[in-house]
Amino acid sequence: MGKATGMATYTLPELPYDYSSLEPVISGEIIELHHDKHHAGYVKGANDTLEQLAEAREKEQWGNITGLEKNLAFHLSGHILHSIYWRNMTGDGGGEPLEKDGTGELADAIAESFGSFARFKAQLSKASATTQGSGWGVLAYEPLSGRLVVEQVYDHQGNIGQGSVPILVFDAWEHAFYLQYRNQKVDFVEAMWRVVNWQDVSARYTAAKAGGGKLLLA
Ligand SMILES: [Fe+2]
Repeated sequence: MGKATGMATYTLPELPYDYSSLEPVISGEIIELHHDKHHAGYVKGANDTLEQLAEAREKEQWGNITGLEKNLAFHLSGHILHSIYWRNMTGDGGGEPLEKDGTGELADAIAESFGSFARFKAQLSKASATTQGSGWGVLAYEPLSGRLVVEQVYDHQGNIGQGSVPILVFDAWEHAFYLQYRNQKVDFVEAMWRVVNWQDVSARYTAAKAGGGKLLLA
């Protein structure tokens, strides 16, 4: 490694609760593996890829630039989505944002963007449960229109609009549920609503909205 490489940029965040805190919706065994092994792997992958890119720059060896850029997108997006995912959940979760977020702003935004909470819930559930291969269902703030949108993310980084800020993410990879739900992804997605931390989602919405005007400076 050359001198331009060095310190790790990304670190694995600690879980805000015990492994078993989301039971019975998600088993402690799944959370432990998911956080300690899978998420940790994306953190390492993002840091390793940054080092490899630094080495490529230093040596001016660009033969694998396409692979490196793809790996950066994959691992970095995996790290970001999982960091949001843990905070999006709580053992004391569920219900609807109107009851939980205190201000009603998120509930209003969901109603304006999707027609009603029920229609939003149906869309995010369907998008999550019908991912092909590996992916996520995501509620995101889209800053150009100021709307909320549901995205069906492919792997961690595909099929998304540039600039959209994820505020509620449902991990639909098999590692998120298979030990407990086997092949019943629909059941897992339905159960996920019982652990949604609406206070966290609401705080993310407020922050995304505040920062949204910076997307286009022209
Ligand atoms: Fe995951």
